[in-house]
Amino acid sequence: MKIARYTAYGGPETIRFEDAPIPAPGPGEVLVRVRAAPVTAGDARLRSGMVPRGLGLLLRVAIGLTRPRVAPGWAFAGEVAGVGAGVTGWSVGQRVFGLTGFKGGAHREYLVITQSGTILPLPDTLSFEAGAAFFFGGLTAAEFLIDRAKVTAGERVLVAGATGAVGGAAVQIARHLGAKVAATASAANHDLARRMGASEVSDYRDGSPAGPFDVVIDVMGKLGWDRAAPLLAPGGRLVLVTADLSAMLGSALRPRRGDRRVITGTSKEDLPSMLRLVGLHQEGAYTPVVGQVLPFAHLAEAHRIAEGFHKPGNLVVTMDQTPA
Ligand SMILES: NC(=O)c1ccc[n+]([C@@H]2O[C@H](COP(=O)([O-])OP(=O)(O)OC[C@H]3O[C@@H](n4cnc5c(N)ncnc54)[C@H](OP(=O)(O)O)[C@@H]3O)[C@@H](O)[C@H]2O)c1
Repeated sequence: MKIARYTAYGGPETIRFEDAPIPAPGPGEVLVRVRAAPVTAGDARLRSGMVPRGLGLLLRVAIGLTRPRVAPGWAFAGEVAGVGAGVTGWSVGQRVFGLTGFKGGAHREYLVITQSGTILPLPDTLSFEAGAAFFFGGLTAAEFLIDRAKVTAGERVLVAGATGAVGGAAVQIARHLGAKVAATASAANHDLARRMGASEVSDYRDGSPAGPFDVVIDVMGKLGWDRAAPLLAPGGRLVLVTADLSAMLGSALRPRRGDRRVITGTSKEDLPSMLRLVGLHQEGAYTPVVGQVLPFAHLAEAHRIAEGFHKPGNLVVTMDQTPA
């Protein structure tokens, strides 16, 4: 099988394909034939080492000083190709999706995952591409909106950067929670923002829409406290989905600013969070937008697009054709 590997911190050209034997599932393990996998903002950041200001050294301490010692690929959708001894509940041919998470390993044709790990049956309502696109933005948006900002019905929510993976999920889930959603996006993506449930759409290049908002989701961290504070209603919450070191420290040391609050952090990658998101999908609250779909062989091109931070919806590679 073909697997992708990062050879150094740097541009997409640092990605290599290698041949490897198809792994045999051990006791309690499931072998998955990967059919599709997302190429996310997170993948691009791990490969390039380009993270918000002040976090570069922390990243390198976590994943490798000289090269990213993680495998490419954070999530997958595919089908069970084999099961190890003692596996119950999974059968060959079953459609599945899940997370390989921070350590990666989904950008390959087959992967092995423990049967009780971050793997779930893929609902019939999702294609392999949609299954691949499902978790990255969805888990982030659900956790920040529901658990952290605690959005309630009738609140006014601004999603700044509303049509990528995180923003697209945030618009849908905020709307489902009963919020009135304003969105900012490039003009080309305004229709998409409206289709996902935004009732008010503008271009972030023209400034922010008029507040007050109960919750501002600052997807790219471009507003920050200084520009978002004047938009916040009393009791308002600012969610910095992207935050540099100083914003992270600021929110940790001084989350409360009068009666308003700043929220940062990373979202959880666990089975209960995944199950909740599947529940939201089944209630009709969330379906990921599948944007560009490229063959696995074009993984470097997919990274180039992902690191531009302007992709509509989610970018997915499919493993139907073998890379050279
Ligand atoms: N905290 C966490 O746990 C967590 C989890 C996941 C992702 N993230 C971070 O969240 C960010 C977004 O990830 P993503 O996957 O949603 O990225 P994405 O799919 O590339 O989407 C980026 C979005 O930001 C918008 N945008 C780009 N430049 C902007 C600007 N100057 N001002 C306002 N909006 C702008 C884009 O709009 P247009 O395309 O319309 O221009 C697009 O809607 C990344 O920095 C990622 O690292 C954090």
